[in-house]
Amino acid sequence: MNVIPLTPSFVAEIQEIQLDRITDSEFERLYAAWLHYGVLRIRNQDLDDEQLQAFSQRFGPLEEAPFGRMPEAEKAKIKNRFVTTLSNIKVDGKPIGGLGNDEATWHSDMTYSETPPPASLLLGIEIPDQGGDTHFADQRAALAALPAALRQRVESLSVKHNAAHTSVGKLRPGFEAFDDPRDAPGAIHPMIKTHNETGKPALYLGRREWAYIPGMTVTESDDLLDALWAYVAIKENTWTQHWQPFDLIIWDNRCVMHRRDGFDQNSRRYMRRCQVLPRHAV
Ligand code: SIN
Repeated sequence: MNVIPLTPSFVAEIQEIQLDRITDSEFERLYAAWLHYGVLRIRNQDLDDEQLQAFSQRFGPLEEAPFGRMPEAEKAKIKNRFVTTLSNIKVDGKPIGGLGNDEATWHSDMTYSETPPPASLLLGIEIPDQGGDTHFADQRAALAALPAALRQRVESLSVKHNAAHTSVGKLRPGFEAFDDPRDAPGAIHPMIKTHNETGKPALYLGRREWAYIPGMTVTESDDLLDALWAYVAIKENTWTQHWQPFDLIIWDNRCVMHRRDGFDQNSRRYMRRCQVLPRHAV
């Protein structure tokens, strides 16, 4: 197994590995590389759901997909709650997965929950010829880029992360629309997150839409958030994944954000995904 950096410090490709047959010592090296970089790509992994789930579970207990407040009876109809689909494909007029073909804005996964998943794993199966690239931004570097006065200002601040909308801006099942970010439901987290395994600090903003800094007026909060968001995705701290079928990407939501380009609804994109809870969470 080889670890090949794709950027100087935040993305690496793991080569010469088959994830359905990974040994414990290979996994230890892969896990250490993931902690060090934040984003890993592993090509040519034609994994079925059981294999993807088994590999993902090595990172920790799996998180259910974000179903919003979908009634339990509806959830019970879902075959596997841990390996979920992102896709624009429809069968009998019904979407088979989440997010459709829309652009998804910068975010870290499920930061609106009290215990957000550290790891997300996304396996590309059908990939459109154009569009649908996924972009990543290093939030350790974003924090390091903040001017000293701005960093000092946010050192002790928190932000409320909106649970009601998806990253393509749609309301999740069971949530009501609102027009004031103070009314957004969701967890409050410190703006600077110290990584519980590496000890490295990172900017931790979740997503811009409907975010709110408790204790401020909406205008103060929006102005400060806009000032911070100017540093989230500085070009030299970002990297773009141009998908090939059977690419697997693993990212660390504690220190990395991602976004996705939209793509033509007439093309097909089909991805399988797992999210991993902190190891102590279950
Ligand atoms: C997401 O997790 O926001 C979507 C990533 C993708 O579809 O590439």
